Amino acid sequence: MANRILTGIKPTGKLTLGNYIGVLKNLKRETERGECFYFIADLHALTLPIEPEELRQNSIDLACFYLASGIDPKKTTLFLQSSVSAHAELNAIMQNYLYMGELSRMTQFKDKSSKMKESAIGLGLFSYPVLMASDIILYDANIIPVGEDQVQHVELTRDLVNRINNRYGEILTMPKAEMRKVGARIMSLSDPTKKMSKSDPKGDIFLKDEPAVIRKKIMSAVTDSGSEVKYDVENKPGISNLLTIYAAIKEISIEEAEKEFVGFRYGDFKKAVADAVINELEPFQARYKQILESKEYENVLKQGAIRANEVASKTLKRVQKAVGLLTIE
Ligand code: TYM
Repeated sequence: MANRILTGIKPTGKLTLGNYIGVLKNLKRETERGECFYFIADLHALTLPIEPEELRQNSIDLACFYLASGIDPKKTTLFLQSSVSAHAELNAIMQNYLYMGELSRMTQFKDKSSKMKESAIGLGLFSYPVLMASDIILYDANIIPVGEDQVQHVELTRDLVNRINNRYGEILTMPKAEMRKVGARIMSLSDPTKKMSKSDPKGDIFLKDEPAVIRKKIMSAVTDSGSEVKYDVENKPGISNLLTIYAAIKEISIEEAEKEFVGFRYGDFKKAVADAVINELEPFQARYKQILESKEYENVLKQGAIRANEVASKTLKRVQKAVGLLTIE
């Protein structure tokens, strides 16, 4: 069977260099490997409180960022999760095949809920992986490009697919998470032991940051007391993170990056990293602005919803029939 590639991004907060390196940068290349479905996970964005206007703006921004990554909308299906009702419908079925125990072991849920009062934790945050599994299953996707933090959710989806296929026959496609070899987990610049996330203004590079801001953030990134530019995550987490960023942007290995900086002082090394990031993001930002102004994303999302609905509704029917729902046509 030909490859089906699927991934989603949540329109919460501002996208970071972590999202870019972990996923966005690679999306164009993926389109050469099979049919691609990329979406805006707006239903997932509702799992934590968000203002309606912010969600709307973030969704538009994300559509433009997807397109700025260079994907050809004629060859790729780009859509909003909420414009394909099969996601919610499959979710309603699949929630009966994933269990409280396994959902409460999900790292993302534990991280996010540990910072909240129990009375404020929505059911959607808990059942987040059920909807994510439904996203994946609906498109018969076999390749799921994600950063490291989403691999656990894809693994759970694999368990679910096994469960359903054992119970009802081979009706679902087995997905597999694929991470970039270099850059699957970009760390915060202010605390390189923590992941770069959408909610840390000091440690994050945001995709809309001006070049001068990007330079300042990289020049003041936390490093360590040594002087050698060497990849050593345990003793040099800050330098290792900057080497990873550089290697991922330049599409070279960590070893090759290390070789380029033999004998460099930290300051000169950081300057080279800042140049590399700015050279990459400047044209990307220009494309983003042009797409935002032209509003070309509107038609792309409309067409995307049509194609996504076509594929997703077929899978939904297949599952509905298999579990015993009467599908009257
Ligand atoms: P989200 O929106 O948190 O992140 C989008 C993608 O960016 C990756 N990522 C990173 N990669 C490297 N370094 C980082 N610091 C970093 N931070 C984020 C994430 O791993 C992710 O691939 N649940 C998903 C959205 C989703 C989805 C799906 C993905 C919903 N349904 C189905 C794949 C398939 C999420 O919240 O990603």
